Amino acid sequence: MDESVISRIEAIVGKDGYSVDSAELYTYGFDASIFHRTPDMVVQPRTVEQVSEIMKVANAERIPVVPRGAGTGLCGSAVPIKGGIVMDMSRMNKILNISVGDLWVDVQAGCVYNALNDAIGKLGFFFPCSPGSAEAATIGGMVSANASGMKAVKYGATRDFVLGLTFVKADGEIVRAGTHTIKDSSGYQLARLLCGSEGTLGVITDVTLKLATKPKTSASALVSFKTIYDAGRFVSAVMAKPLIPASCELMDKVSIDAVNKALNNPLPDCEALCIIEVDGEPEQVERDLKTVAEIAETIGATSVTPTHDKKQIAAWTAARKSVMTALSALKPGYSSVSLADDMGVPVSKIPDAVTRYQEIADKYRVTVATYGHAADGNLHTKMLLNPLDKDEWDRGVAAVSEIFDETIKLGGTVTGEHGVGISKAPDFQKERKTELSSIRAIKAAMDPNNILNPGKLEQWEGSILTNLRYPCKEYM
Ligand code: LAC
Ligand code: ZN
Repeated sequence: MDESVISRIEAIVGKDGYSVDSAELYTYGFDASIFHRTPDMVVQPRTVEQVSEIMKVANAERIPVVPRGAGTGLCGSAVPIKGGIVMDMSRMNKILNISVGDLWVDVQAGCVYNALNDAIGKLGFFFPCSPGSAEAATIGGMVSANASGMKAVKYGATRDFVLGLTFVKADGEIVRAGTHTIKDSSGYQLARLLCGSEGTLGVITDVTLKLATKPKTSASALVSFKTIYDAGRFVSAVMAKPLIPASCELMDKVSIDAVNKALNNPLPDCEALCIIEVDGEPEQVERDLKTVAEIAETIGATSVTPTHDKKQIAAWTAARKSVMTALSALKPGYSSVSLADDMGVPVSKIPDAVTRYQEIADKYRVTVATYGHAADGNLHTKMLLNPLDKDEWDRGVAAVSEIFDETIKLGGTVTGEHGVGISKAPDFQKERKTELSSIRAIKAAMDPNNILNPGKLEQWEGSILTNLRYPCKEYM
């Protein structure tokens, strides 16, 4: 990084507000995706004014800036593929204001999801999006990816809670978008536009989130099936009843076996299962549990285990959350990688989707674990491959491409909750064909010098097999 830029940045954030130390820069080249690229500088602003001043320097010098939360993203959104500055937002982590009477909380972008829930939980509220990385993920990162997780089926994704936010444009202008009101029909919804923008339109510095009230009680049931197709039919039948569960996690045989091996058998040995949670008033919860059992019987489930036992529920949840790491422990030399990661399909298409994904995995001789938040149509196909072997990557990416084509054919989306980043960029471009020219026009209007997280999403060109974090010499 140019010495004069370094001294201008130091004048803004002070000596302890940035780093050009090579070891530190190296670590900021990762997120939780398969990619890596070392940036030229990391800055850690403490105020929106500092963010604005940094952007003015970067814009004048045409230096790329990649905003970063906790780096838990799985598709490369925070990897600085064009070098430049990584803007680490973790020092802006305060809860600014809570208004329970108005049902909102103002929170800085770097606040961690669990920390926010600890604070509003004491008041009877929660932010229910439940990302898998709840103990680390930041609110700014969640808004940038429109992240969610297990509870989106009933409560919605991050976007559904954003009433307003503050962001800094590429030229340093500070913009307050949206309101502190529950309803808002006041023209273009710029705050919504920033949801899912992955750092390409502005740097989000604080967010106004709507508060959700915590349910009185909840209970869960583990339902096992003879086939994954039956599990898919079960999920569809529950939704069509209608019964909206608080969460409904599906796991296929590969996921179940991996978890049972890694964690000493917390799950029944079966072909497929669903862990379904219902919440609300106690009488409602009892009624819903009974309905779930009736539907399971109609579908031909092999077992139904309902429980109110918090310890049992926590063990099932932990088992489900461990799929990704358990998969990596399944076969020496193999790792679970995030490629076709979080497709969303219409719920009625879940039975077809899970079956087709498995056929595609077999065709390309790759091990795929299919699991996820099936009741909102969101499925993970985590792939197990030897990351040092070019042929494994080639077969993996060919399988992924077919999985995405199949998803789009079923009326789905290539990403339901993790975002586009790099790994889904080519297929995002196929999926959003008719939106691309508008997307490009918006980007050019907001960031004319293309310094904000350049090269991702609609700008990506070519194969995704580049800048891999693994020492696979053909694709590093
Ligand atoms: C999960 C992450 C991968 O659901 O989204 O575990
Ligand atoms: Zn998920």
